[in-house]
Amino acid sequence: MDEPSVTPAQTEPDWTQSAGPEFVVVANRLPVDLERLPDGSTRWKRSPGGLVTALEPILRHNNGAWIGWPGVPDAEVDPFVEDGVELHSVRLSAAEVADYYEGFSNATLWPLYHDVIVRPEYRREWWAAYVEVNRRFAEYTAKIAAEGATVWVQDYQLQLVPKMLRMLRPDLTIGFFLHIPFPPVELFMQMPWRTEIIEGLLGADLIGFHLPGGAQNFLYLAKRLGGHGTSRGTVGVRVRFGVVQVGFRAVRVGAFPISISSGELDELSRRRSTRDRARQIRAELGDPKYVLLGVDRLDYTKGIDVRLAALEELLAEGRIDRENTVMVQLATPSRERVDSYIQMRGDIERQVGRINGEFGRVGHPVVHYLHRPVVREELISFFVAADAMLVTPLRDGMNLVAKEYVACRSDLKGALVLSEFTGAAGELRQAYLCNPHDLDDVKDAISEAVHQDPEAGRRRMRSLRRQVLTHDVDRWARAFLEALSHNDIAGSALLPDLDLPH
Ligand code: ADP
Ligand code: F6P
Repeated sequence: MDEPSVTPAQTEPDWTQSAGPEFVVVANRLPVDLERLPDGSTRWKRSPGGLVTALEPILRHNNGAWIGWPGVPDAEVDPFVEDGVELHSVRLSAAEVADYYEGFSNATLWPLYHDVIVRPEYRREWWAAYVEVNRRFAEYTAKIAAEGATVWVQDYQLQLVPKMLRMLRPDLTIGFFLHIPFPPVELFMQMPWRTEIIEGLLGADLIGFHLPGGAQNFLYLAKRLGGHGTSRGTVGVRVRFGVVQVGFRAVRVGAFPISISSGELDELSRRRSTRDRARQIRAELGDPKYVLLGVDRLDYTKGIDVRLAALEELLAEGRIDRENTVMVQLATPSRERVDSYIQMRGDIERQVGRINGEFGRVGHPVVHYLHRPVVREELISFFVAADAMLVTPLRDGMNLVAKEYVACRSDLKGALVLSEFTGAAGELRQAYLCNPHDLDDVKDAISEAVHQDPEAGRRRMRSLRRQVLTHDVDRWARAFLEALSHNDIAGSALLPDLDLPH
């Protein structure tokens, strides 16, 4: 399997002639990562994660600019155009990668916002780097955006940018979207710089979350930290009907569940080449009766250990036939220098080894584990080949993999096992839902999915597909951007009453 690499057809526009982009996405990462090869040369490859999957098609259709970090320290990259999108690199030093990205973003905010699955670390030097890097992103954006442009800031790495940018460029319309859960007040209040973060976000005109629950958490915190009952609050806010009044400015808050390019995936998955490759994958796996699949960044929030533990017990109890079942776990390397990720990788690889040692045969492991990303076409063939998709995060803002699997099953075969603690569970009610903290529940869900009655399975898949195909990523982006440009849409209208499991 090839590494997903891209070589952008780069063009060098005449920047001096341009009045600046009218639409700008600001995200920690560019959609492509610069890779330094051992021979000293470099190449671009697709960046990991759901944010890029979701936003890349939107920007291609909108001809905007994308500001982000190219994924390696100390890279000086001139702006270039790829697929009609201006890509602008923000340089981070090695120390900033360690303190802002690996430290504050991924060892403080990430665990805090994911239910403190591991303990967040609060370090002053990490916070200082976070402030500094957010300032750099804000200044860069202020420099290039056209007069009156729309700027869409993305995710937890850049929560201070809205306020900083508003101070530099009050003419801009600023949206912010959080791609991960926003935590309840009891957890958020741990954060030593909680007021600064809430104030940073309140620089936006519209703040979007995946789920109404996250939006409610934010509204509550805005009220609590915005000058009400605390001497540390400095913004003087009033909160009513999904709107935070900050002085004369109204900041609207809403829920916008993100999605995928479902039509495109549906089309790709129907291709003969995809179907042939899916059959070939099954043959390479030894033509087992059941193929189970996991596809994730290697992250402790994803519950890879949970599904492996469930599989191990199901095999030991004979509820899943070891002769006829194979599991494939595709795991993209992620945040490899952060301690909790190093530890988790070791734990998961030991688990895989133990299961294969116990239940595999020579030439026939039960679990096939790949620690690398796979190219998109290959991934789609894996989705088509799998009888059951295992999505078992302990907490996940949305989880696009669950939606991708559904979009790829036009044959109405396959079954989705889905953790209740993903944003996707709010929409995908016909999945085999389970509580990842309850191993018996996960085992039951996997067993039911594997042994489902084909007709009942088709009914479930039809209903899942209706949701995913009618709610694609374009609809998500349109909903957000329309709300951002029409400030007469009431805040309360942006908080639909979804049927949520928790
Ligand atoms: P997150 O944003 O936390 O990584 P999501 O499930 O929302 O999680 O999005 C992950 C994206 O990365 C999806 O588009 C998925 O297809 C892709 N992806 C995950 N693992 C792999 C892999 N091993 N190879 C290729 N793509 C992957
Ligand atoms: O939304 C989750 C997210 O953290 C994105 O912000 C990010 O692009 C993606 O996952 C991958 O993570 P990282 O950029 O740290 O590799």
